Amino acid sequence: MLVLGIETTCDETAAAVVERRADGQARILSNVVRSQTDEHARFGGVVPEIAARAHVDLLDGIVAAAMKEAGIGYQQLSAVAAAAGPGLIGGVIVGLTTAKAIAMVHDTPLIAVNHLEAHALTPRLTCALAFPYCLFLASGGHTQIVAVVGVGEYVRLGTTVDDAMGEAFDKVAKMLSLPYPGGPEVERAAAGGDPTRFAFPRPMLGRPDANFSLSGLKTAVRNEASRLEPLEPQDISDLCASFQAAVLEATADRLTVGLRLFEERFGTPRALVAAGGVAANHAIRSALQDVAAKAQTTLIIPPPALCTDNGAMIAWAGAERMALGLTDTMEAPPRARWLLDANAKAPAGHANSRAGY
Ligand code: KG4
Ligand code: ZN
Repeated sequence: MLVLGIETTCDETAAAVVERRADGQARILSNVVRSQTDEHARFGGVVPEIAARAHVDLLDGIVAAAMKEAGIGYQQLSAVAAAAGPGLIGGVIVGLTTAKAIAMVHDTPLIAVNHLEAHALTPRLTCALAFPYCLFLASGGHTQIVAVVGVGEYVRLGTTVDDAMGEAFDKVAKMLSLPYPGGPEVERAAAGGDPTRFAFPRPMLGRPDANFSLSGLKTAVRNEASRLEPLEPQDISDLCASFQAAVLEATADRLTVGLRLFEERFGTPRALVAAGGVAANHAIRSALQDVAAKAQTTLIIPPPALCTDNGAMIAWAGAERMALGLTDTMEAPPRARWLLDANAKAPAGHANSRAGY
């Protein structure tokens, strides 16, 4: 089975061709990603309108490049999959409409993939991981703990009630005048800082649910930074180190609870899987390693190119759905919000436009 996958939900324009063999094994034939970081950097964050226009400009060329690199023609495709949400609606419309046009012209099935489902199924693409497993997804738009029980069977065990984790890193970087995207900058600055200088709050610590909250922590950093004005380089490093220490402790606590909830409902997970840009953070990785070891499970982090937004994960999720006969019609809607777990409710008090759950 050969599936073309298209991803345009945020600031990456991506297309890929993935093969799924009858035994469930996968092969990536092409995986073309064009990140729009430069277009958004001077605004210190993703600007939805700029992203949507860039997707319009780039997508045709990226799809053509993915098909060429895979060395196949459209008539060989078994299906075309697009991320139909959740995400920035302008971009989602561009990707989904393009996929519909390809499906229509080449008389190929369409698969409208949930972007979060694609992240969730990635370890089956990279290492054929068996169900059930626990996913920790932390990116600029999402912070979730999800029980991945089967294709289409996801139970959200925890989520952020305000900012996404990557978003908190980006906002802290911005308030300290560090460049965008802020996560890697904060990690770099934190390496030379004192994590104990500021006692920032550890949000949600000890709560019986597995939810996250990051906006109070971000505000605490802002207050401390304005109190210290003008900031010396050492202050910036210490603020970053103390912020990161708080995020680490909160993450370890929330995931420990998440894994306990998992165990109660689904038994021991085959693995703890981390995905999203924040999983690139070395301190977070080692915290996750400890959490996994204590829960007697293995930590799996897909390679960076498949951890962050890409077309291969959309193609793969499409292939997994296709294998179960789950295709969509031309009426499939683009969705800014799309819960992975249809039965779950968004937590109250949520006020963030990018955290598209
Ligand atoms: O998954 P991703 O590449 O894209 C989307 O959010 O769609 O995640 C990007 C996010 C950004 O917020 C970025 O600051 C954060 O991941 N990030 C990091 C690190 N590298 C990227 N956060 C903390 N530490 C890092 N090393
Ligand atoms: Zn993503």
